[in-house]
Amino acid sequence: MLNRVKALPKNFVWGGATAAYQVEGATKADGKGKTMWDDYLKAQGRFSPDPASDFYHRYPEDVKLAHEYGLNAIRVSIAWTRIFPKGYGEPNQAGVAYYHKLFKTCIENGVTPYVSLHHFDSPKTLFDQGDWLNRKNIDYFVAYAEFCFKEFKEVKNWFTINELISLSLSQYIAGNFPPNHHFDVTSAIQAQHNELLAHARAVNLYKSLHLNGRIGLIHVLQPIYPITQTPANKHAAALYDAFINRFLLDGTFLGDYSDETMDLINEILQKNNAKLDIQAGDMAILKQAATQNDYFGLNYYQSQFIQAYDGPSGNQFNGTGDKGSSSFSFHGVGQVVPKAGVPTTDWDWNIYPKGLYDILKRIAKEYPNSKTIYITENGLGYKDQFVSADQVIDDEPRIDYIDQHLAALLQARKEGVNVQGYFVWSLQDQFSWANGYNKRYGLFYVDFDTQKRYVKKSAQWFKELADTM
Ligand code: NOJ
Repeated sequence: MLNRVKALPKNFVWGGATAAYQVEGATKADGKGKTMWDDYLKAQGRFSPDPASDFYHRYPEDVKLAHEYGLNAIRVSIAWTRIFPKGYGEPNQAGVAYYHKLFKTCIENGVTPYVSLHHFDSPKTLFDQGDWLNRKNIDYFVAYAEFCFKEFKEVKNWFTINELISLSLSQYIAGNFPPNHHFDVTSAIQAQHNELLAHARAVNLYKSLHLNGRIGLIHVLQPIYPITQTPANKHAAALYDAFINRFLLDGTFLGDYSDETMDLINEILQKNNAKLDIQAGDMAILKQAATQNDYFGLNYYQSQFIQAYDGPSGNQFNGTGDKGSSSFSFHGVGQVVPKAGVPTTDWDWNIYPKGLYDILKRIAKEYPNSKTIYITENGLGYKDQFVSADQVIDDEPRIDYIDQHLAALLQARKEGVNVQGYFVWSLQDQFSWANGYNKRYGLFYVDFDTQKRYVKKSAQWFKELADTM
């Protein structure tokens, strides 16, 4: 890899990714309002979002570590409820001040902040009013976005919403995010459309402000392959792909849901007695934004293999999120099945770097409006073992994972795909939505009792990469 990264331009972005609710902790500090998670996690009693990795207080150390280990960028998100505790109303100045300090520290350390406005942490007040299913939520989001654009002018790289599909699938299909609905297909598709609208309106607004920065959104994409090449399995794969990838990609980069996409979506809706409400004027908003995105953030972890399925919907989600959370059987669509020879993580996620190459090629070909692509998340969830304070944590499997995915990225770049950066998920170990603290992703190990940071081998490996460039 060391030799191969020499092919990258000197200004290639190497980043570490984080998200407010997963790292900050301090969920009640300085006037912060509740998110949809606070009471929910408390009621579950499985793990607490406090203090997470205490980034709220320790960001200076984390940003310095990032810089020291060769990273020139960091992904953070703004917690909507630090700025507007209820999601709307008067801004909370303590929250505003916190993010100014954070961005200043990043910039002073040569670690460029890439900032998302929404990373799974809807304000509780708005969640209670229907969250993204309530169209008024879009107005609240745009008002929050406008405030941030005008306030945080030091931020030059924005993302509107992170992983629209994970949010809607987890909330309304898998049922492992609040409000825990299972196979509520109407809500899952409607939330996608409404979030796309929110994104598009925020982009259109940002561009009209001429703030001399860039904006886009982040999709996690899972390439979908038929388990065998029978017509039934191929059709199932096309349906599944439409539901989790294509609908969002069309909406984002075509500003239109193509006829082929809508044929597939309508087939799914019909088979599941579900419906989608698109209102007059919606598509014009998407259309205007489609060419205005400056870049595209792609999160990639795994691909899925699908076989046709007409039985009842259900998933193997076991309530702890440890295994099988993506083992869907989707009525009239398809069933996610294991593929012989494809290794998996401790959480049964397929390790399939070729999927990254395939999806990069597809986006570049089918969605030229995606323009510049950043890999905004990629990494391995692993049960890292701490040995002793003076021993570097050995996370070879993570290095292998990243190495293989960087190779896929480099190959796609060589073939003309415009990838300009790579953010590893995650910078430091952090809180994981459905798994709490035993699923670690960081380049830096966090002892959650003492909050001390320890270097992992993967961080040293990254430093070597960056030094080689
Ligand atoms: C995607 C999400 O953006 C992030 O919040 C999550 O923790 C990782 N993937 C790992 O599942």
